[in-house]
Amino acid sequence: MTDLRLFAEVDSTNDALRRLADDGAPEGTVVIAETQSLGRGRQGRRWHSPPGVGLYISVLVRDVGPLDRATRWTLGAAVAVCEACNEVASIAATIKWPNDVQVRGRKLAGILAELRGAERPELVVGCGINALHRAEDFPEDLRPHATSLRQAAGSTDVDREGLAAAFLARFAGVRQQLRSGGWDAVARRWAGLAPGAMDQPVRVHVGDRVFEGRTAGLDPLGGLVVRSLDGATTVVRQVDSVRPLEAGVAELGEGC
Ligand code: BTN
Repeated sequence: MTDLRLFAEVDSTNDALRRLADDGAPEGTVVIAETQSLGRGRQGRRWHSPPGVGLYISVLVRDVGPLDRATRWTLGAAVAVCEACNEVASIAATIKWPNDVQVRGRKLAGILAELRGAERPELVVGCGINALHRAEDFPEDLRPHATSLRQAAGSTDVDREGLAAAFLARFAGVRQQLRSGGWDAVARRWAGLAPGAMDQPVRVHVGDRVFEGRTAGLDPLGGLVVRSLDGATTVVRQVDSVRPLEAGVAELGEGC
């Protein structure tokens, strides 16, 4: 049975779960909060977390396995979030490498996975899903870049409890696959949801080098493979270093 902790308000569900982990919370413990006062996004950004409209949820993964494979968990979480959104709202959300979930180029959900410990690393996987947001629930600067299940589905009938349950069921499946050597199966599910990661034209910035090429899927550690025009292959690991070259292509660069 899932150890599920519900809070009206926390600073960040990732931090609340980290504190529970320090007190010995078991593998799979889940924290959900109605609102976060200090919700965090990637790269030090804030994750705006108004009450009543979003799903703010973190899951504890103990015993992540080899450190260099930790990215597999975040990709797996993106699969679980994306599939859950599509199931609950009957939409066609996709994944932008590595783990943003979007609809028609607008961000629907994000994942912040935080790793701790070297010997037996443990991971807190935090997901924020815009569920019932109207435009005015987003900060003004994010409005052109963000969407919610309500907006994408054109329906007010979005059940956040059902969404949480769908995500947790799918993430449990991902966990089972990753623990039993089933990375290939998870990677296939990810690829099926990430059209921008295969054979799409991109420009890549790596250090001083800039080149153009076409995406060629994931490498075994979750990097994005890009084949340049001269046939050379580069694995990109820096999230903000890849940009799509054509309008209409699923975005691969910065999140919102
Ligand atoms: C991103 O920048 O795309 C990642 C956003 C992650 C937000 C979620 S909400 C639940 C969990 N708690 C946090 O403070 N952040 C994550």
